[in-house]
Amino acid sequence: MEKSITLNLKNAGKFVSFEEIVALAQQSIRHLDNLNNGTGAGNDFLGWLSLPDDILTQLDDIGKAAERLRSLSDTTVVIGIGGSYLGARAVIEGLSHSFMPALKQKHHEVIFAGQNICEDYMSELIDLLDERNYSIVVISKSGTTTEPAIAFRILKNHLEKKTGKAGCAERIIAITDRKRGALKKMADLNGYETFVIPDDIGGRYSVLTPVGLLPVALAGFDIRQLVKGAKSMEEQTRHNRNAATNPALLYASARNLIMQTGRTIEIMAGFTPRLHFLAEWWKQLYGESEGKEGKGLFPASVDFTTDLHSLGQYIQEGRRILFETIISVENPRKKVIIPHEIDDSDQLNYIAGKRLSEVNINAELGTTLAHNDGGVPIITISVPELTEYHIGQLIYFFEIACAISGYILDVNPFDQPGVEAYKTNMFALLNKPGFEKESEKIRERLKL
Ligand code: PA5
Repeated sequence: MEKSITLNLKNAGKFVSFEEIVALAQQSIRHLDNLNNGTGAGNDFLGWLSLPDDILTQLDDIGKAAERLRSLSDTTVVIGIGGSYLGARAVIEGLSHSFMPALKQKHHEVIFAGQNICEDYMSELIDLLDERNYSIVVISKSGTTTEPAIAFRILKNHLEKKTGKAGCAERIIAITDRKRGALKKMADLNGYETFVIPDDIGGRYSVLTPVGLLPVALAGFDIRQLVKGAKSMEEQTRHNRNAATNPALLYASARNLIMQTGRTIEIMAGFTPRLHFLAEWWKQLYGESEGKEGKGLFPASVDFTTDLHSLGQYIQEGRRILFETIISVENPRKKVIIPHEIDDSDQLNYIAGKRLSEVNINAELGTTLAHNDGGVPIITISVPELTEYHIGQLIYFFEIACAISGYILDVNPFDQPGVEAYKTNMFALLNKPGFEKESEKIRERLKL
Protein backbone atom coordinates (compact mmCIF):
# COMPACT_ATOMS: atom_id res chain seq x y z
CA MET A 1 0.00 0.00 0.00
CA GLU A 2 1.17 3.53 -0.83
CA LYS A 3 2.15 5.72 2.11
CA SER A 4 -0.06 8.74 2.63
CA ILE A 5 0.52 12.42 3.18
CA THR A 6 -0.03 13.24 6.87
CA LEU A 7 -1.00 16.29 8.88
CA ASN A 8 0.96 17.23 12.01
CA LEU A 9 -0.44 19.88 14.35
CA LYS A 10 2.14 19.51 17.12
CA ASN A 11 3.79 22.84 16.41
CA ALA A 12 0.49 24.69 16.49
CA GLY A 13 -0.20 23.30 19.97
CA LYS A 14 1.41 26.17 21.91
CA PHE A 15 -1.10 28.54 20.31
CA VAL A 16 -4.26 26.48 19.90
CA SER A 17 -4.64 23.16 21.65
CA PHE A 18 -5.37 19.91 19.85
CA GLU A 19 -8.56 19.60 21.95
CA GLU A 20 -9.79 22.99 20.69
CA ILE A 21 -8.99 21.98 17.12
CA VAL A 22 -10.85 18.68 17.44
CA ALA A 23 -13.81 20.49 19.02
CA LEU A 24 -14.12 22.84 16.04
CA ALA A 25 -13.57 19.91 13.66
CA GLN A 26 -16.40 18.10 15.42
CA GLN A 27 -18.69 21.10 14.94
CA SER A 28 -17.59 21.27 11.30
CA ILE A 29 -18.85 17.81 10.45
CA ARG A 30 -22.08 19.61 9.51
CA HIS A 31 -20.10 21.45 6.80
CA LEU A 32 -18.88 18.13 5.45
CA ASP A 33 -22.49 16.95 5.46
CA ASN A 34 -23.53 20.12 3.63
CA LEU A 35 -20.94 19.37 0.97
CA ASN A 36 -22.00 15.75 0.61
CA ASN A 37 -25.72 16.57 0.62
CA GLY A 38 -25.40 19.67 -1.56
CA THR A 39 -27.11 21.82 1.07
CA GLY A 40 -24.49 24.55 1.56
CA ALA A 41 -23.71 27.80 -0.26
CA GLY A 42 -22.52 27.38 -3.86
CA ASN A 43 -24.06 23.91 -4.07
CA ASP A 44 -24.22 24.10 -7.86
CA PHE A 45 -20.39 23.89 -7.92
CA LEU A 46 -19.73 20.58 -6.19
CA GLY A 47 -18.77 18.42 -9.18
CA TRP A 48 -15.12 18.31 -8.02
CA LEU A 49 -16.07 16.28 -4.93
CA SER A 50 -16.61 13.06 -6.91
CA LEU A 51 -14.07 13.69 -9.68
CA PRO A 52 -11.72 10.88 -8.59
CA ASP A 53 -14.44 8.47 -9.77
CA ASP A 54 -16.22 10.56 -12.38
CA ILE A 55 -13.11 11.35 -14.41
CA LEU A 56 -12.06 7.71 -14.85
CA THR A 57 -14.10 7.20 -18.03
CA GLN A 58 -12.29 10.13 -19.68
CA LEU A 59 -8.71 9.13 -18.89
CA ASP A 60 -8.24 7.03 -22.03
CA ASP A 61 -9.44 9.85 -24.28
CA ILE A 62 -7.22 12.36 -22.49
CA GLY A 63 -4.25 9.99 -22.85
CA LYS A 64 -4.96 9.48 -26.57
CA ALA A 65 -5.26 13.22 -27.22
CA ALA A 66 -1.95 13.78 -25.44
CA GLU A 67 -0.26 11.06 -27.49
CA ARG A 68 -1.63 12.57 -30.71
CA LEU A 69 -0.17 16.02 -29.96
CA ARG A 70 3.09 14.48 -28.74
CA SER A 71 3.44 12.62 -32.04
CA LEU A 72 2.80 15.80 -34.03
CA SER A 73 5.09 18.13 -32.09
CA ASP A 74 7.96 18.46 -29.61
CA THR A 75 6.39 21.25 -27.54
CA THR A 76 2.89 22.18 -26.39
CA VAL A 77 1.94 25.68 -25.37
CA VAL A 78 -0.83 25.49 -22.76
CA ILE A 79 -2.83 28.73 -22.77
CA GLY A 80 -4.93 29.65 -19.72
CA ILE A 81 -5.05 31.76 -16.57
CA GLY A 82 -6.11 31.31 -12.93
CA GLY A 83 -7.89 28.03 -12.42
CA SER A 84 -7.32 27.21 -16.08
CA TYR A 85 -3.55 27.37 -15.56
CA LEU A 86 -2.25 26.98 -12.01
CA GLY A 87 -3.22 23.37 -11.28
CA ALA A 88 -1.52 21.97 -14.39
CA ARG A 89 1.57 24.04 -13.75
CA ALA A 90 1.71 23.00 -10.08
CA VAL A 91 1.63 19.30 -10.97
CA ILE A 92 4.06 19.57 -13.89
CA GLU A 93 6.62 21.66 -11.98
CA GLY A 94 6.27 19.35 -9.00
CA LEU A 95 7.30 16.40 -11.15
CA SER A 96 9.66 17.83 -13.80
CA HIS A 97 13.44 18.08 -13.87
CA SER A 98 14.36 21.53 -12.56
CA PHE A 99 16.70 22.44 -15.44
CA MET A 100 15.87 20.05 -18.25
CA PRO A 101 12.08 19.79 -18.11
CA ALA A 102 11.93 17.87 -21.37
CA LEU A 103 14.06 15.14 -19.81
CA LYS A 104 11.44 14.18 -17.25
CA GLN A 105 8.61 15.11 -19.60
CA LYS A 106 9.81 12.30 -21.87
CA HIS A 107 11.17 14.57 -24.56
CA HIS A 108 8.14 16.78 -24.95
CA GLU A 109 8.01 20.18 -23.33
CA VAL A 110 4.96 21.94 -21.92
CA ILE A 111 5.19 25.73 -21.83
CA PHE A 112 2.57 28.12 -20.45
CA ALA A 113 1.08 31.26 -21.98
CA GLY A 114 -1.99 33.44 -21.55
CA GLN A 115 -1.34 33.82 -17.80
CA ASN A 116 -0.17 37.42 -18.34
CA ILE A 117 -0.33 40.13 -21.00
CA CYS A 118 3.33 41.06 -20.85
CA GLU A 119 4.63 41.94 -24.30
CA ASP A 120 8.20 40.81 -23.52
CA TYR A 121 6.97 37.41 -22.34
CA MET A 122 5.02 36.95 -25.57
CA SER A 123 7.73 38.19 -27.93
CA GLU A 124 10.32 35.96 -26.24
CA LEU A 125 7.95 33.01 -26.39
CA ILE A 126 7.57 33.65 -30.11
CA ASP A 127 11.39 33.70 -30.45
CA LEU A 128 11.41 30.24 -28.88
CA LEU A 129 8.46 28.93 -30.90
CA ASP A 130 10.09 30.08 -34.15
CA GLU A 131 12.52 27.23 -33.51
CA ARG A 132 10.00 24.67 -32.25
CA ASN A 133 7.52 22.27 -33.76
CA TYR A 134 4.59 22.97 -31.48
CA SER A 135 0.94 22.40 -30.64
CA ILE A 136 -1.51 24.46 -28.59
CA VAL A 137 -3.92 23.53 -25.81
CA VAL A 138 -6.19 26.48 -25.08
CA ILE A 139 -8.18 26.37 -21.85
CA SER A 140 -10.95 28.75 -20.84
CA LYS A 141 -14.18 27.77 -19.15
CA SER A 142 -15.94 31.02 -20.01
CA GLY A 143 -14.20 31.09 -23.37
CA THR A 144 -13.98 34.86 -23.13
CA THR A 145 -11.17 35.64 -20.66
CA THR A 146 -9.04 38.41 -22.12
CA GLU A 147 -5.51 37.21 -21.30
CA PRO A 148 -5.77 33.70 -22.81
CA ALA A 149 -7.93 34.95 -25.69
CA ILE A 150 -5.20 37.42 -26.73
CA ALA A 151 -2.45 34.79 -26.37
CA PHE A 152 -4.49 32.33 -28.43
CA ARG A 153 -5.10 34.83 -31.21
CA ILE A 154 -1.38 35.67 -31.44
CA LEU A 155 -0.10 32.10 -31.24
CA LYS A 156 -2.74 30.65 -33.57
CA ASN A 157 -1.66 33.25 -36.11
CA HIS A 158 1.99 32.29 -35.63
CA LEU A 159 1.26 28.55 -35.88
CA GLU A 160 -0.89 28.99 -38.98
CA LYS A 161 2.04 30.68 -40.73
CA LYS A 162 4.21 27.68 -39.90
CA THR A 163 1.83 24.82 -40.63
CA GLY A 164 -1.01 26.22 -42.76
CA LYS A 165 -4.64 26.44 -41.64
CA ALA A 166 -5.38 22.70 -41.67
CA GLY A 167 -2.10 21.76 -39.94
CA CYS A 168 -2.77 24.39 -37.32
CA ALA A 169 -6.32 23.16 -36.60
CA GLU A 170 -4.99 19.64 -36.19
CA ARG A 171 -2.54 20.85 -33.56
CA ILE A 172 -5.03 22.73 -31.43
CA ILE A 173 -7.12 21.27 -28.61
CA ALA A 174 -9.66 23.49 -26.85
CA ILE A 175 -10.89 22.83 -23.31
CA THR A 176 -13.98 24.88 -22.61
CA ASP A 177 -17.67 24.98 -21.77
CA ARG A 178 -19.98 22.38 -23.33
CA LYS A 179 -22.10 25.01 -25.15
CA ARG A 180 -21.20 28.61 -24.38
CA GLY A 181 -18.44 31.08 -25.16
CA ALA A 182 -16.30 32.34 -28.00
CA LEU A 183 -13.80 29.51 -27.69
CA LYS A 184 -16.48 26.86 -28.10
CA LYS A 185 -17.69 28.67 -31.25
CA MET A 186 -14.17 28.85 -32.67
CA ALA A 187 -13.56 25.19 -31.92
CA ASP A 188 -16.75 24.17 -33.73
CA LEU A 189 -15.99 26.43 -36.68
CA ASN A 190 -12.42 25.22 -37.13
CA GLY A 191 -12.86 21.59 -36.12
CA TYR A 192 -10.53 21.61 -33.09
CA GLU A 193 -10.61 18.57 -30.85
CA THR A 194 -12.33 19.63 -27.62
CA PHE A 195 -12.74 18.59 -24.00
CA VAL A 196 -15.48 19.90 -21.76
CA ILE A 197 -15.19 21.64 -18.39
CA PRO A 198 -18.31 20.55 -16.50
CA ASP A 199 -20.77 23.29 -15.48
CA ASP A 200 -20.60 22.28 -11.82
CA ILE A 201 -16.83 22.68 -11.45
CA GLY A 202 -15.29 26.12 -10.96
CA GLY A 203 -11.86 27.02 -12.36
CA ARG A 204 -9.84 26.64 -9.16
CA TYR A 205 -11.35 23.22 -8.45
CA SER A 206 -10.79 21.94 -11.99
CA VAL A 207 -7.29 20.43 -11.91
CA LEU A 208 -8.62 16.86 -11.97
CA THR A 209 -10.67 17.54 -15.14
CA PRO A 210 -9.08 17.75 -18.62
CA VAL A 211 -8.01 21.30 -17.59
CA GLY A 212 -5.20 19.84 -15.50
CA LEU A 213 -5.03 16.29 -16.75
CA LEU A 214 -4.40 16.94 -20.45
CA PRO A 215 -1.36 19.21 -19.85
CA VAL A 216 -0.04 16.74 -17.25
CA ALA A 217 -0.45 13.83 -19.69
CA LEU A 218 1.22 15.90 -22.41
CA ALA A 219 4.17 16.39 -20.11
CA GLY A 220 4.45 12.61 -19.93
CA PHE A 221 3.24 12.10 -16.35
CA ASP A 222 0.88 9.44 -15.06
CA ILE A 223 -2.61 10.91 -14.72
CA ARG A 224 -4.02 7.62 -13.41
CA GLN A 225 -1.71 7.79 -10.42
CA LEU A 226 -2.67 11.43 -9.86
CA VAL A 227 -6.36 10.49 -9.78
CA LYS A 228 -5.63 7.41 -7.64
CA GLY A 229 -3.92 9.65 -5.08
CA ALA A 230 -6.91 12.00 -5.09
CA LYS A 231 -9.24 9.02 -4.62
CA SER A 232 -7.29 7.81 -1.60
CA MET A 233 -7.61 11.28 -0.04
CA GLU A 234 -11.33 11.35 -0.85
CA GLU A 235 -11.59 8.11 1.14
CA GLN A 236 -9.75 9.65 4.10
CA THR A 237 -11.80 12.83 4.17
CA ARG A 238 -15.11 12.99 2.36
CA HIS A 239 -17.11 10.47 4.36
CA ASN A 240 -14.90 10.40 7.45
CA ARG A 241 -17.09 11.79 10.24
CA ASN A 242 -14.45 11.17 12.89
CA ALA A 243 -13.21 14.68 13.64
CA ALA A 244 -10.00 13.50 15.27
CA THR A 245 -8.84 11.51 12.24
CA ASN A 246 -10.15 13.53 9.30
CA PRO A 247 -7.15 15.63 8.15
CA ALA A 248 -9.29 18.04 6.11
CA LEU A 249 -11.57 18.83 9.08
CA LEU A 250 -8.53 19.25 11.32
CA TYR A 251 -6.59 21.51 8.93
CA ALA A 252 -9.64 23.69 8.21
CA SER A 253 -10.31 24.00 11.93
CA ALA A 254 -6.70 24.64 12.95
CA ARG A 255 -6.19 27.49 10.47
CA ASN A 256 -9.47 29.17 11.49
CA LEU A 257 -8.63 28.92 15.19
CA ILE A 258 -5.14 30.29 14.57
CA MET A 259 -6.73 33.18 12.66
CA GLN A 260 -8.77 33.96 15.76
CA THR A 261 -5.48 34.57 17.65
CA GLY A 262 -4.90 37.56 15.33
CA ARG A 263 -2.71 35.75 12.81
CA THR A 264 -4.41 36.64 9.56
CA ILE A 265 -1.71 35.55 7.11
CA GLU A 266 -1.06 31.91 6.30
CA ILE A 267 2.27 31.30 4.62
CA MET A 268 2.80 28.08 2.72
CA ALA A 269 6.44 27.10 2.96
CA GLY A 270 8.32 24.41 1.08
CA PHE A 271 11.97 23.42 1.24
CA THR A 272 12.18 22.57 -2.46
CA PRO A 273 11.63 24.93 -5.41
CA ARG A 274 9.62 22.12 -6.93
CA LEU A 275 6.72 23.14 -4.67
CA HIS A 276 6.70 26.75 -5.82
CA PHE A 277 3.71 26.37 -8.13
CA LEU A 278 1.79 24.11 -5.78
CA ALA A 279 1.84 27.08 -3.42
CA GLU A 280 0.71 29.38 -6.27
CA TRP A 281 -2.22 27.03 -6.95
CA TRP A 282 -3.04 26.86 -3.22
CA LYS A 283 -2.97 30.68 -2.97
CA GLN A 284 -5.58 30.99 -5.69
CA LEU A 285 -7.70 28.20 -4.21
CA TYR A 286 -7.80 29.73 -0.75
CA GLY A 287 -7.61 33.39 -1.73
CA GLU A 288 -10.52 33.25 -4.18
CA SER A 289 -12.56 30.90 -2.03
CA GLU A 290 -12.30 32.76 1.28
CA GLY A 291 -11.31 36.36 0.58
CA LYS A 292 -14.74 38.01 0.52
CA GLU A 293 -17.13 39.95 2.76
CA GLY A 294 -14.08 41.34 4.60
CA LYS A 295 -13.15 37.83 5.75
CA GLY A 296 -10.48 35.20 5.13
CA LEU A 297 -6.83 34.49 5.78
CA PHE A 298 -4.40 36.07 3.33
CA PRO A 299 -2.56 33.17 1.66
CA ALA A 300 1.12 33.84 0.99
CA SER A 301 4.06 31.58 0.17
CA VAL A 302 7.81 31.25 0.54
CA ASP A 303 10.49 28.96 -0.90
CA PHE A 304 12.92 27.93 1.82
CA THR A 305 15.78 28.01 2.44
CA THR A 306 16.01 30.73 -0.27
CA ASP A 307 13.52 33.03 1.45
CA LEU A 308 14.99 32.51 4.90
CA HIS A 309 17.57 34.97 3.60
CA SER A 310 14.91 37.53 2.71
CA LEU A 311 11.58 37.09 4.50
CA GLY A 312 13.06 34.97 7.30
CA GLN A 313 13.76 38.03 9.43
CA TYR A 314 10.15 39.22 9.25
CA ILE A 315 8.73 35.79 9.95
CA GLN A 316 11.02 35.41 12.97
CA GLU A 317 10.59 38.86 14.52
CA GLY A 318 8.13 41.03 12.62
CA ARG A 319 4.48 41.69 13.50
CA ARG A 320 2.92 38.53 14.94
CA ILE A 321 0.22 38.34 12.30
CA LEU A 322 1.23 35.15 10.55
CA PHE A 323 1.53 31.40 10.75
CA GLU A 324 3.09 28.81 8.49
CA THR A 325 1.92 25.65 6.77
CA ILE A 326 5.05 23.71 5.90
CA ILE A 327 4.96 21.10 3.15
CA SER A 328 7.66 18.68 4.17
CA VAL A 329 8.87 16.26 1.50
CA GLU A 330 10.44 13.21 3.11
CA ASN A 331 12.36 11.64 0.21
CA PRO A 332 14.10 13.55 -2.55
CA ARG A 333 14.67 11.79 -5.86
CA LYS A 334 18.43 11.46 -6.15
CA LYS A 335 21.37 11.41 -3.77
CA VAL A 336 23.93 14.21 -3.72
CA ILE A 337 26.80 13.71 -1.25
CA ILE A 338 28.83 16.64 0.10
CA PRO A 339 32.48 15.89 -0.67
CA HIS A 340 35.35 15.83 1.85
CA GLU A 341 38.26 18.26 1.31
CA ILE A 342 41.65 17.83 2.94
CA ASP A 343 42.32 21.50 3.66
CA ASP A 344 38.71 22.23 4.77
CA SER A 345 39.17 25.91 3.93
CA ASP A 346 35.39 26.43 3.76
CA GLN A 347 35.02 24.57 7.08
CA LEU A 348 32.38 22.24 5.76
CA ASN A 349 34.05 18.96 6.63
CA TYR A 350 31.70 18.58 9.59
CA ILE A 351 29.00 17.70 7.06
CA ALA A 352 31.23 15.94 4.52
CA GLY A 353 29.87 12.56 3.49
CA LYS A 354 26.29 13.58 4.32
CA ARG A 355 23.50 13.84 1.76
CA LEU A 356 22.39 17.35 0.88
CA SER A 357 18.88 16.30 1.92
CA GLU A 358 20.11 15.70 5.46
CA VAL A 359 21.23 19.32 5.63
CA ASN A 360 17.87 20.42 4.20
CA ILE A 361 15.93 18.34 6.74
CA ASN A 362 17.91 19.90 9.55
CA ALA A 363 17.31 23.34 8.10
CA GLU A 364 13.60 22.54 8.16
CA LEU A 365 13.70 21.28 11.76
CA GLY A 366 15.78 24.27 12.84
CA THR A 367 13.41 26.68 11.10
CA THR A 368 10.35 25.06 12.63
CA LEU A 369 11.78 25.37 16.15
CA ALA A 370 13.02 28.93 15.62
CA HIS A 371 9.77 30.21 14.11
CA ASN A 372 7.73 28.44 16.78
CA ASP A 373 9.90 30.07 19.47
CA GLY A 374 9.33 33.39 17.69
CA GLY A 375 5.55 33.06 18.08
CA VAL A 376 4.70 31.48 14.74
CA PRO A 377 2.26 28.55 14.88
CA ILE A 378 3.20 25.86 12.38
CA ILE A 379 1.07 23.27 10.66
CA THR A 380 3.12 20.58 8.91
CA ILE A 381 1.97 18.42 6.02
CA SER A 382 4.38 15.57 5.37
CA VAL A 383 4.63 14.18 1.86
CA PRO A 384 6.45 10.85 1.44
CA GLU A 385 7.68 11.75 -2.06
CA LEU A 386 6.78 14.19 -4.82
CA THR A 387 5.06 11.65 -7.07
CA GLU A 388 1.85 11.86 -9.09
CA TYR A 389 0.06 9.88 -6.36
CA HIS A 390 1.04 12.17 -3.52
CA ILE A 391 0.41 15.34 -5.50
CA GLY A 392 -3.05 13.92 -6.25
CA GLN A 393 -3.54 13.47 -2.50
CA LEU A 394 -2.44 17.04 -1.81
CA ILE A 395 -4.85 18.39 -4.43
CA TYR A 396 -7.93 16.67 -3.03
CA PHE A 397 -6.88 17.39 0.55
CA PHE A 398 -6.53 21.13 -0.04
CA GLU A 399 -9.73 21.32 -2.10
CA ILE A 400 -12.01 19.67 0.45
CA ALA A 401 -10.34 21.46 3.37
CA CYS A 402 -10.84 24.75 1.54
CA ALA A 403 -14.55 24.13 1.06
CA ILE A 404 -14.96 23.23 4.76
CA SER A 405 -12.90 26.24 5.80
CA GLY A 406 -15.06 28.54 3.66
CA TYR A 407 -18.16 27.17 5.37
CA ILE A 408 -16.56 27.69 8.80
CA LEU A 409 -16.07 31.33 7.77
CA ASP A 410 -19.65 31.45 6.53
CA VAL A 411 -18.76 32.48 2.98
CA ASN A 412 -19.55 30.85 -0.35
CA PRO A 413 -16.24 29.15 -1.23
CA PHE A 414 -17.24 28.64 -4.86
CA ASP A 415 -17.80 32.15 -6.19
CA GLN A 416 -15.39 35.01 -6.93
CA PRO A 417 -17.44 38.21 -7.41
CA GLY A 418 -14.43 40.45 -6.72
CA VAL A 419 -12.40 39.45 -9.75
CA GLU A 420 -14.66 41.42 -12.10
CA ALA A 421 -13.70 44.87 -10.77
CA TYR A 422 -10.37 45.25 -12.58
CA LYS A 423 -11.81 43.81 -15.77
CA THR A 424 -14.58 46.42 -15.95
CA ASN A 425 -12.05 49.24 -15.59
CA MET A 426 -9.68 47.71 -18.13
CA PHE A 427 -12.46 47.18 -20.69
CA ALA A 428 -13.69 50.72 -20.15
CA LEU A 429 -10.18 52.10 -20.69
CA LEU A 430 -9.75 50.00 -23.84
CA ASN A 431 -13.15 51.17 -25.19
CA LYS A 432 -14.59 47.69 -25.39
CA PRO A 433 -18.06 47.83 -26.97
CA GLY A 434 -20.72 47.69 -24.22
CA PHE A 435 -18.58 49.59 -21.69
CA GLU A 436 -19.30 53.13 -22.94
CA LYS A 437 -20.85 54.39 -19.69
CA GLU A 438 -18.05 53.02 -17.51
CA SER A 439 -15.55 54.44 -19.99
CA GLU A 440 -16.93 57.95 -19.60
CA LYS A 441 -16.88 57.72 -15.81
CA ILE A 442 -13.40 56.31 -15.54
CA ARG A 443 -11.92 58.81 -17.99
CA GLU A 444 -13.38 61.64 -15.95
CA ARG A 445 -12.00 60.09 -12.76
CA LEU A 446 -8.53 59.70 -14.25
CA LYS A 447 -8.77 63.08 -16.01
CA LEU A 448 -8.01 61.50 -19.40
O1 PA5 B 1 -11.19 30.11 -10.40
C1 PA5 B 1 -11.67 30.75 -11.31
O2 PA5 B 1 -12.86 30.64 -11.64
C2 PA5 B 1 -10.82 31.72 -12.12
O3 PA5 B 1 -9.52 31.77 -11.66
C3 PA5 B 1 -10.79 31.28 -13.58
O4 PA5 B 1 -10.29 29.97 -13.64
C4 PA5 B 1 -9.94 32.21 -14.43
O5 PA5 B 1 -10.40 33.51 -14.32
C5 PA5 B 1 -9.97 31.77 -15.88
O6 PA5 B 1 -11.28 31.72 -16.34
P1 PA5 B 1 -11.67 30.98 -17.68
O7 PA5 B 1 -11.35 29.55 -17.52
O8 PA5 B 1 -13.14 31.22 -17.85
O9 PA5 B 1 -10.86 31.61 -18.79
